[in-house]
Amino acid sequence: DTVDWEVGTWDTGGHPHYLLKEIAEQPATVARTLSGRLDERFATAHLGGLNLGPRELREIRRVKILGCGSAYYAGEMGAQLIEELARVPAHAEPASEFRYRNPVIEGDTLYVAVSQSGETYDTLAAVQEIRRKGGRVIGIVNTVGSAIARECDGGVYLHAGPEVSVASTKAFTSTAVAFALLALHFGRVHDLSPADGRRICAGLKALPGQIEEILAGREEIERLAAEYARHDGMMFVGRVRGWPVAREGAQKLKEISYIHAEAYPASELKHGPLALISPALPTLAVVPDDELLEKNLTTLGEIRARGGRVLMVGHRRPDARLAEDVIVVPRGEPELDPILLTVPLQLFAYAAAVALGRDVDRPRNLAKSVTVE
Ligand code: G6P
Repeated sequence: DTVDWEVGTWDTGGHPHYLLKEIAEQPATVARTLSGRLDERFATAHLGGLNLGPRELREIRRVKILGCGSAYYAGEMGAQLIEELARVPAHAEPASEFRYRNPVIEGDTLYVAVSQSGETYDTLAAVQEIRRKGGRVIGIVNTVGSAIARECDGGVYLHAGPEVSVASTKAFTSTAVAFALLALHFGRVHDLSPADGRRICAGLKALPGQIEEILAGREEIERLAAEYARHDGMMFVGRVRGWPVAREGAQKLKEISYIHAEAYPASELKHGPLALISPALPTLAVVPDDELLEKNLTTLGEIRARGGRVLMVGHRRPDARLAEDVIVVPRGEPELDPILLTVPLQLFAYAAAVALGRDVDRPRNLAKSVTVE
């Protein structure tokens, strides 16, 4: 069985769908996740509910992140942020896989359960298994007092407000922001410098305004989405910071538009999926202006050489031969790029689903919260 929000009992705030309302709310929801948590004096973050002192944090050798669906993809973003800012090995895994494979639970690993609803059965079962074996688990959860929040040793609430549409948007970005706060705090307990800590604080504070800028470009994204929605499938690619963005973008597109969407790390294209590239299969490429820009542009060239149409989402327009279409997002601190790059992909999936006349808030076969095995 599954539990659904009662679509129709909440206010869409003048928007045609809850999904668009929730996408549009993100400047405010991200601000709420950050609210009161940035400490500019010590260039770090305060997370009152973590229940972990600096000494305990220093003893953590690994971080293992568990969640399902978009919560898992947000966990992949989180793992990257923790590795980048704290230099502690971090890895995300679907909670459903983890709980079925008799996982090794280690005392010096911090387990992090991610869930918007706090009720997803597979994630809850993973938390219970970890605790039964004596592991330490914190939650990154939206719903206060939910089952997962209650089972954890501590955690971070998103404060994103109720998410009604089945496809997760505002909870996704708030989860990524909560991970950035955790990574900043963790990093400053380790070797992240005060200067870098200040840079991340400033980058986080800038996010709401930058999301506002992306939302202002909605019409152009809608126009592109309506064109791409004519295809039966799409490839999503990204490298390192772009990779979890590509995965979440593909997930959004498939769940609400029913267009087949496949996500691949850009470097893996040549190891198989390049065979699929043709004019019939366009690619959305996530290309931030970071140290991998040149590598990513080479990948675009390889796709174009096979006649594939390319929509690039990044910080600048490349040579017109490399991408027919470009969505430019504001530049922030590179570690935080994935958060901003996700937003145009949400709008893209939404507009593609609308163009195809789908039931965007209640996609077929899916439920908001899966509370059974
Ligand atoms: C379901 C929903 C997804 C969601 C996943 C995890 O599959 O359709 O949108 O990402 O559950 O939900 P949670 O509430 O644990 O974040």
